[in-house]
Amino acid sequence: MIILTGASGGIGRAILPSLVTLDNVIAVYHKNLPDISGINGVTLYQVDLTSESKVNDFAAAMKDQLQRITLIHAAALSRNALAAKFSTEDWDQVINVNLRGSFLFTRAMLLPMIQEKWGRIIYISSVAGMRGAPGTLAYSTAKTGLLGMSRVIANEYARFGITSNVLVLGYFNTGLIETLSEKLRKKILELIPSRQLGNPANVINAVEFLIKSEYVNGSAMHIDGGI
Ligand SMILES: NC(=O)c1ccc[n+]([C@@H]2O[C@H](COP(=O)([O-])OP(=O)(O)OC[C@H]3O[C@@H](n4cnc5c(N)ncnc54)[C@H](OP(=O)(O)O)[C@@H]3O)[C@@H](O)[C@H]2O)c1
Repeated sequence: MIILTGASGGIGRAILPSLVTLDNVIAVYHKNLPDISGINGVTLYQVDLTSESKVNDFAAAMKDQLQRITLIHAAALSRNALAAKFSTEDWDQVINVNLRGSFLFTRAMLLPMIQEKWGRIIYISSVAGMRGAPGTLAYSTAKTGLLGMSRVIANEYARFGITSNVLVLGYFNTGLIETLSEKLRKKILELIPSRQLGNPANVINAVEFLIKSEYVNGSAMHIDGGI
């Protein structure tokens, strides 16, 4: 069973049709219901990742279906401002979804994974965090925070057959990128050696690899066209 948060986002929607070829999928969304017409093997579930009780309700409701869990954390939020002008409200919102939400969801899924002695956790991070891209204070803090979270989980739960890894994505041709100005997109293309935005099929390849790989643990794989 694959649980995908951020299933209604650009990358989530793009990978959903291929994810179902790997396993059944619980597609977690927040405000936008993903269109799953023509895709078999998907259960939709609405969860606000900022709500501890909603995350715990999800785990309780899905209890009987939770077998061989692969948890892909793709939900995220971005708010842009320079550090000196970054509002506390924006900071809290971004950290609540991108970091605290990942913690809440991970914690809720660890027990069934431990009981089964098998689990895969895949956090989706971003090259923006690695580069410290200007304007992304909270987003970059959260995205690099996931690296620490993942390594701790890898250390604590490897003995239960659970692996935790991070996919550090470059700039993709869907999702968050659509919120950027044409000027910024041009600048971004200049950063990428291939001068091409990423195709979400690359994310699927990595997810499949991580599901199959019990000895790849605590790692970060960069999928960024060589940035
Ligand atoms: N696209 C890129 O070029 C790129 C580059 C680097 C890294 N990434 C990473 O890849 C992942 C997917 O990115 P994307 O471009 O697909 O993002 P996106 O299109 O902005 O989608 C964001 C997703 O997060 C969900 N979300 C936001 N707040 C939530 C909340 N409170 N509770 C539950 N879900 C919530 C949204 O749900 P609703 O729409 O239902 O509200 C949506 O499904 C993110 O982790 C992002 O940081 C993307």
